[in-house]
Amino acid sequence: MSLKAVTVSATMTEKAKKRYPGESKGFVEEMKFVAMKLHTKQQAKEGEKEISQPEERSVVKWKPTTEGYLRFLVDSKLVYDALENIVYDAAYSYYAEFRSTGLERSASLAKDLEWFREQGHPIPEPSSPGLTYAQYLKELSVKDPQAFICHFYNIYFAHSAGGRMVGKKVAEKILNNKVLEFYKWDGQLSQMLQGVRDKLDKVSEGWTREEKNRCLEETEKSFRLSGEVLRLILVS
Ligand code: HEM
Repeated sequence: MSLKAVTVSATMTEKAKKRYPGESKGFVEEMKFVAMKLHTKQQAKEGEKEISQPEERSVVKWKPTTEGYLRFLVDSKLVYDALENIVYDAAYSYYAEFRSTGLERSASLAKDLEWFREQGHPIPEPSSPGLTYAQYLKELSVKDPQAFICHFYNIYFAHSAGGRMVGKKVAEKILNNKVLEFYKWDGQLSQMLQGVRDKLDKVSEGWTREEKNRCLEETEKSFRLSGEVLRLILVS
């Protein structure tokens, strides 16, 4: 390769780095970069969003209720059921790669709801945030696979990070520190997350830059819809 060619390709790498933060490490890193900015500072230190909703305040300040938490668990189950059915049906053959990753949450949520029922708590009917999100995912998974993958990533990875902080704080405040099944994984969570990261990076290698951008642009919607489900914890 001539010196000129080396210089040109070095400049291009530099440009690519500037345009799409995280790109040099793979597409998951790009998705993470976009997601981190959509947190508020009270949620995560890399966050840049202004607080406009109650769940965007520090979890330490939350005043959860058992009724609200149950509504959150019921609606979360709808969302995880939808994700698990979508990868099982695999409208696009590569969705099948995301079956049995170890991150699935439907079965553990079913156990938690059963536990609450045994404790004498009535299990609420599903409500609009979960129904809306589950329906949206079903439709999106068929008509826009790149956008669907954005939700898939954000939902599972959010639960492994902020979701666990939420679970710990809520348990401290209203469950006498009981750790629900929702927050337990069979095996090493870090390894399962890495396995999914590798698959997401591999699948997205075949995407055009436009398809990648469409996926990244969907992040905001993912935060909005997940935020509505999270907000249920705080209903009184
Ligand atoms: C109470 C609400 C939330 C809190 C307190 C929170 C907090 C955090 C924190 C502290 C991290 C960094 C973890 C680390 O670097 O190890 C993180 C990562 C992340 N969060 Fe959130 N978050 C919240 C809600 C959300 C929502 C609604 C979404 C999107 C639907 C989301 C998506 C993500 C993603 C994708 C990551 C990257 C995880 C990874 O790559 O391992 N978070 N969150």
